[in-house]
Amino acid sequence: MTTTNTVPPSKHKYAQGHSASVVASHLSRTVENSASFLIPHLRPDSIIVDLGCGPGTITQGFCSFVPRGRVLGLDSSDAVLEQARSLISGSSSEHSNLTFKAADITDRLPFDDASVDVVYTHQTLLHIPSPISVIREAFRILRPGGMLAMREADHVSIAPESPLLEQYWRHVFESIREMGAQGEGCGRRLHLWAQEAGFERNKMQVGAGATVYTAPDESKWWAGVHIGRLGGEIGEKLLQNKTVQNQQEIEDIKTALKTWGDHHEAWYGLMQGEVICWK
Ligand SMILES: C[S@@+](CC[C@H](N)C(=O)[O-])C[C@H]1O[C@@H](n2cnc3c(N)ncnc32)[C@H](O)[C@@H]1O
Repeated sequence: MTTTNTVPPSKHKYAQGHSASVVASHLSRTVENSASFLIPHLRPDSIIVDLGCGPGTITQGFCSFVPRGRVLGLDSSDAVLEQARSLISGSSSEHSNLTFKAADITDRLPFDDASVDVVYTHQTLLHIPSPISVIREAFRILRPGGMLAMREADHVSIAPESPLLEQYWRHVFESIREMGAQGEGCGRRLHLWAQEAGFERNKMQVGAGATVYTAPDESKWWAGVHIGRLGGEIGEKLLQNKTVQNQQEIEDIKTALKTWGDHHEAWYGLMQGEVICWK
Protein backbone atom coordinates (compact mmCIF):
# COMPACT_ATOMS: atom_id res chain seq x y z
CA MET A 1 0.00 0.00 0.00
CA THR A 2 1.51 3.39 -0.97
CA THR A 3 0.31 6.97 -0.69
CA THR A 4 1.71 9.96 -2.54
CA ASN A 5 1.44 13.56 -1.47
CA THR A 6 4.14 16.11 -1.86
CA VAL A 7 5.83 18.30 0.74
CA PRO A 8 6.58 21.85 -0.51
CA PRO A 9 10.26 21.89 -1.61
CA SER A 10 10.88 25.01 0.48
CA LYS A 11 10.45 22.89 3.61
CA HIS A 12 13.25 20.43 2.70
CA LYS A 13 16.16 21.29 4.96
CA TYR A 14 18.03 18.00 5.09
CA ALA A 15 21.73 18.98 5.10
CA GLN A 16 23.03 15.74 3.61
CA GLY A 17 20.78 15.65 0.52
CA HIS A 18 19.87 12.32 -1.10
CA SER A 19 22.76 11.61 -3.47
CA ALA A 20 23.57 7.94 -4.15
CA SER A 21 26.53 8.07 -1.75
CA VAL A 22 24.37 9.45 1.07
CA VAL A 23 21.52 6.99 0.55
CA ALA A 24 24.03 4.10 0.24
CA SER A 25 24.65 4.19 3.98
CA HIS A 26 20.90 4.39 4.74
CA LEU A 27 20.31 1.36 2.50
CA SER A 28 22.67 -0.70 4.66
CA ARG A 29 20.39 -0.30 7.69
CA THR A 30 18.08 -3.02 8.93
CA VAL A 31 15.84 -3.55 11.94
CA GLU A 32 18.47 -5.95 13.27
CA ASN A 33 21.41 -3.51 13.03
CA SER A 34 19.50 -0.29 13.79
CA ALA A 35 16.46 -1.10 15.94
CA SER A 36 17.32 -4.26 17.88
CA PHE A 37 16.62 -2.46 21.18
CA LEU A 38 12.99 -2.10 20.09
CA ILE A 39 12.33 -5.65 18.81
CA PRO A 40 11.49 -7.24 22.23
CA HIS A 41 8.76 -4.65 22.76
CA LEU A 42 6.90 -5.10 19.45
CA ARG A 43 3.55 -6.90 19.38
CA PRO A 44 2.16 -8.68 16.30
CA ASP A 45 -0.64 -6.10 16.02
CA SER A 46 1.44 -2.93 16.67
CA ILE A 47 0.88 0.17 14.53
CA ILE A 48 4.35 1.64 13.90
CA VAL A 49 5.19 5.06 12.46
CA ASP A 50 8.79 5.65 11.28
CA LEU A 51 9.64 9.39 11.23
CA GLY A 52 12.22 10.34 8.57
CA CYS A 53 12.23 6.82 7.10
CA GLY A 54 14.59 7.57 4.17
CA PRO A 55 14.75 4.65 1.69
CA GLY A 56 12.79 2.59 4.19
CA THR A 57 14.95 -0.48 4.69
CA ILE A 58 14.37 -0.37 8.46
CA THR A 59 10.70 0.54 7.96
CA GLN A 60 9.97 -2.47 5.75
CA GLY A 61 11.94 -4.69 8.16
CA PHE A 62 9.37 -3.95 10.89
CA CYS A 63 6.55 -5.54 8.84
CA SER A 64 7.40 -9.14 9.63
CA PHE A 65 7.43 -8.32 13.37
CA VAL A 66 3.86 -6.92 13.19
CA PRO A 67 2.01 -9.25 10.76
CA ARG A 68 -1.40 -8.14 12.09
CA GLY A 69 -0.35 -4.50 12.54
CA ARG A 70 0.61 -1.66 10.22
CA VAL A 71 3.83 0.19 9.40
CA LEU A 72 3.94 3.75 8.03
CA GLY A 73 7.11 5.51 6.91
CA LEU A 74 7.10 9.32 6.67
CA ASP A 75 9.73 11.42 4.92
CA SER A 76 9.78 14.90 3.41
CA SER A 77 11.67 13.79 0.29
CA ASP A 78 9.54 12.46 -2.56
CA ALA A 79 12.67 11.16 -4.31
CA VAL A 80 13.74 9.00 -1.38
CA LEU A 81 10.18 7.74 -0.88
CA GLU A 82 10.07 6.69 -4.54
CA GLN A 83 13.22 4.73 -3.88
CA ALA A 84 11.62 3.13 -0.80
CA ARG A 85 8.59 2.09 -2.84
CA SER A 86 10.62 0.75 -5.75
CA LEU A 87 12.80 -1.32 -3.38
CA ILE A 88 9.81 -3.34 -2.26
CA SER A 89 7.65 -3.25 -5.39
CA GLY A 90 7.30 -6.73 -6.87
CA SER A 91 9.93 -8.18 -4.51
CA SER A 92 9.57 -10.83 -1.84
CA SER A 93 9.70 -7.99 0.70
CA GLU A 94 6.44 -6.44 -0.55
CA HIS A 95 4.10 -6.14 2.45
CA SER A 96 0.39 -5.36 2.44
CA ASN A 97 0.71 -3.64 5.83
CA LEU A 98 3.34 -1.07 4.71
CA THR A 99 2.70 2.53 3.59
CA PHE A 100 5.12 5.34 2.71
CA LYS A 101 3.82 8.88 2.85
CA ALA A 102 5.33 12.33 2.21
CA ALA A 103 5.16 14.52 5.30
CA ASP A 104 7.23 17.15 7.04
CA ILE A 105 7.62 15.74 10.54
CA THR A 106 8.15 19.23 11.95
CA ASP A 107 4.48 19.94 11.13
CA ARG A 108 1.50 18.40 12.93
CA LEU A 109 1.85 14.65 12.31
CA PRO A 110 -0.95 13.25 10.12
CA PHE A 111 -2.44 10.98 12.83
CA ASP A 112 -5.19 11.34 15.42
CA ASP A 113 -4.41 11.68 19.11
CA ALA A 114 -3.65 8.35 20.82
CA SER A 115 -3.88 6.34 17.58
CA VAL A 116 -0.40 4.77 17.27
CA ASP A 117 1.43 2.08 19.29
CA VAL A 118 5.05 2.80 18.35
CA VAL A 119 6.83 5.86 16.97
CA TYR A 120 10.36 5.09 15.80
CA THR A 121 12.97 7.51 14.52
CA HIS A 122 16.53 6.82 13.43
CA GLN A 123 19.27 9.32 12.57
CA THR A 124 16.67 11.98 11.82
CA LEU A 125 16.24 14.15 14.93
CA LEU A 126 19.88 15.23 14.65
CA HIS A 127 18.90 16.94 11.39
CA ILE A 128 15.89 18.74 12.88
CA PRO A 129 16.24 22.25 14.36
CA SER A 130 13.47 21.66 16.93
CA PRO A 131 13.49 17.96 17.87
CA ILE A 132 11.48 18.60 21.04
CA SER A 133 8.44 19.71 19.05
CA VAL A 134 8.67 16.50 16.96
CA ILE A 135 8.85 14.44 20.17
CA ARG A 136 5.85 16.35 21.53
CA GLU A 137 3.89 15.36 18.42
CA ALA A 138 5.01 11.74 18.89
CA PHE A 139 3.63 11.94 22.46
CA ARG A 140 0.31 13.25 21.14
CA ILE A 141 -0.23 10.46 18.58
CA LEU A 142 0.85 7.62 20.92
CA ARG A 143 -1.87 5.72 22.73
CA PRO A 144 -1.40 5.42 26.52
CA GLY A 145 1.20 2.68 27.02
CA GLY A 146 2.58 3.23 23.50
CA MET A 147 6.25 3.97 23.00
CA LEU A 148 8.62 6.31 21.24
CA ALA A 149 11.95 4.69 20.27
CA MET A 150 14.78 6.98 19.16
CA ARG A 151 18.28 6.13 17.94
CA GLU A 152 20.50 9.11 17.15
CA ALA A 153 24.21 9.72 16.60
CA ASP A 154 26.38 10.96 19.41
CA HIS A 155 30.05 10.93 18.39
CA VAL A 156 32.61 9.16 16.21
CA SER A 157 35.83 7.33 17.14
CA ILE A 158 38.28 6.01 14.59
CA ALA A 159 41.46 3.95 14.54
CA PRO A 160 44.22 4.25 13.53
CA GLU A 161 44.29 7.87 14.63
CA SER A 162 44.02 10.43 11.82
CA PRO A 163 43.74 14.11 12.74
CA LEU A 164 42.56 14.91 9.20
CA LEU A 165 39.73 12.39 9.35
CA GLU A 166 38.78 13.42 12.86
CA GLN A 167 38.49 16.97 11.51
CA TYR A 168 36.41 15.65 8.58
CA TRP A 169 33.84 14.02 10.92
CA ARG A 170 33.66 17.34 12.79
CA HIS A 171 32.97 19.06 9.43
CA VAL A 172 30.14 16.60 8.78
CA PHE A 173 28.47 17.47 12.11
CA GLU A 174 29.19 21.19 11.61
CA SER A 175 27.32 21.13 8.29
CA ILE A 176 24.29 19.76 10.17
CA ARG A 177 24.60 22.47 12.84
CA GLU A 178 24.75 25.14 10.12
CA MET A 179 21.18 24.13 9.24
CA GLY A 180 20.20 25.02 12.81
CA ALA A 181 20.07 21.36 13.89
CA GLN A 182 21.91 19.73 16.75
CA GLY A 183 24.34 17.42 14.94
CA GLU A 184 26.92 15.92 17.30
CA GLY A 185 25.93 14.99 20.84
CA CYS A 186 22.27 14.12 20.14
CA GLY A 187 22.48 10.62 21.57
CA ARG A 188 23.18 11.89 25.08
CA ARG A 189 20.29 14.36 24.97
CA LEU A 190 17.39 12.21 23.76
CA HIS A 191 16.06 11.43 27.25
CA LEU A 192 16.32 15.13 28.21
CA TRP A 193 14.42 16.24 25.10
CA ALA A 194 11.78 13.58 25.78
CA GLN A 195 11.19 14.93 29.29
CA GLU A 196 10.78 18.45 27.91
CA ALA A 197 8.24 17.05 25.46
CA GLY A 198 6.11 15.46 28.19
CA PHE A 199 7.47 11.94 28.77
CA GLU A 200 8.32 10.90 32.35
CA ARG A 201 11.87 9.88 33.23
CA ASN A 202 10.66 6.86 35.22
CA LYS A 203 9.00 5.46 32.07
CA MET A 204 12.13 5.44 29.91
CA GLN A 205 14.82 2.97 28.93
CA VAL A 206 17.95 5.05 28.34
CA GLY A 207 20.80 3.23 26.61
CA ALA A 208 23.29 3.36 23.79
CA GLY A 209 24.57 1.24 20.96
CA ALA A 210 27.12 1.67 18.21
CA THR A 211 27.55 1.32 14.50
CA VAL A 212 30.98 -0.16 13.75
CA TYR A 213 32.78 -0.61 10.43
CA THR A 214 36.06 -2.52 10.45
CA ALA A 215 38.82 -3.77 8.14
CA PRO A 216 39.04 -5.37 5.74
CA ASP A 217 35.77 -4.89 3.84
CA GLU A 218 33.44 -2.60 5.83
CA SER A 219 36.13 0.06 6.25
CA LYS A 220 36.86 0.06 2.50
CA TRP A 221 33.12 0.40 1.79
CA TRP A 222 32.65 3.20 4.35
CA ALA A 223 35.70 5.08 3.04
CA GLY A 224 34.26 4.71 -0.49
CA VAL A 225 30.89 6.11 0.63
CA HIS A 226 32.59 9.23 1.99
CA ILE A 227 34.94 9.61 -0.98
CA GLY A 228 31.76 9.57 -3.11
CA ARG A 229 30.12 12.19 -0.89
CA LEU A 230 33.17 14.45 -1.14
CA GLY A 231 33.15 14.08 -4.93
CA GLY A 232 29.53 15.27 -5.04
CA GLU A 233 27.22 17.80 -3.44
CA ILE A 234 28.64 17.37 0.08
CA GLY A 235 32.14 18.28 -1.13
CA GLU A 236 30.66 21.28 -2.99
CA LYS A 237 28.83 22.36 0.16
CA LEU A 238 32.00 22.15 2.27
CA LEU A 239 33.73 24.41 -0.27
CA GLN A 240 30.83 26.86 -0.50
CA ASN A 241 30.59 27.14 3.29
CA LYS A 242 34.37 27.56 3.46
CA THR A 243 34.48 24.66 5.91
CA VAL A 244 37.36 23.56 3.69
CA GLN A 245 39.44 26.19 1.92
CA ASN A 246 40.06 24.62 -1.48
CA GLN A 247 39.73 21.54 -3.66
CA GLN A 248 43.17 20.34 -2.57
CA GLU A 249 41.89 19.97 1.01
CA ILE A 250 39.04 17.83 -0.29
CA GLU A 251 41.53 15.69 -2.23
CA ASP A 252 43.68 15.32 0.91
CA ILE A 253 40.66 14.09 2.90
CA LYS A 254 39.79 11.62 0.13
CA THR A 255 43.35 10.28 0.17
CA ALA A 256 43.26 9.98 3.97
CA LEU A 257 39.93 8.11 3.72
CA LYS A 258 41.35 5.67 1.17
CA THR A 259 44.46 5.08 3.30
CA TRP A 260 42.31 4.55 6.39
CA GLY A 261 39.87 2.24 4.63
CA ASP A 262 42.69 0.01 3.35
CA HIS A 263 44.49 -0.16 6.70
CA HIS A 264 44.35 -3.58 8.33
CA GLU A 265 43.54 -1.97 11.71
CA ALA A 266 40.81 0.33 10.35
CA TRP A 267 37.96 0.73 12.84
CA TYR A 268 35.13 3.29 12.82
CA GLY A 269 32.65 3.50 15.67
CA LEU A 270 29.63 5.79 15.85
CA MET A 271 28.11 5.88 19.33
CA GLN A 272 24.31 6.08 19.15
CA GLY A 273 21.89 7.01 21.91
CA GLU A 274 19.05 4.45 22.08
CA VAL A 275 16.05 5.54 24.12
CA ILE A 276 12.54 4.13 24.53
CA CYS A 277 9.92 6.30 26.24
CA TRP A 278 6.55 4.88 27.26
CA LYS A 279 3.52 7.19 27.36
C1 LIG B 1 19.88 10.32 7.87
S1 LIG B 1 18.41 10.00 7.03
C2 LIG B 1 17.79 8.61 7.96
C3 LIG B 1 16.88 7.75 7.18
C4 LIG B 1 16.39 6.50 7.93
N1 LIG B 1 15.73 6.82 9.16
C5 LIG B 1 17.57 5.60 8.20
O1 LIG B 1 18.10 5.59 9.31
O2 LIG B 1 18.02 4.91 7.26
C6 LIG B 1 17.32 11.31 7.58
C7 LIG B 1 16.01 11.33 6.80
O3 LIG B 1 15.17 12.29 7.44
C8 LIG B 1 14.47 12.97 6.42
N2 LIG B 1 14.05 14.28 6.96
C9 LIG B 1 14.84 15.33 7.32
N3 LIG B 1 14.09 16.36 7.75
C10 LIG B 1 12.80 15.94 7.66
C11 LIG B 1 11.55 16.54 7.95
N4 LIG B 1 11.49 17.79 8.43
N5 LIG B 1 10.41 15.85 7.73
C12 LIG B 1 10.47 14.58 7.24
N6 LIG B 1 11.62 13.94 6.95
C13 LIG B 1 12.76 14.62 7.15
C14 LIG B 1 15.44 13.10 5.27
O4 LIG B 1 14.78 13.31 4.05
C15 LIG B 1 16.17 11.75 5.35
O5 LIG B 1 15.60 10.80 4.49
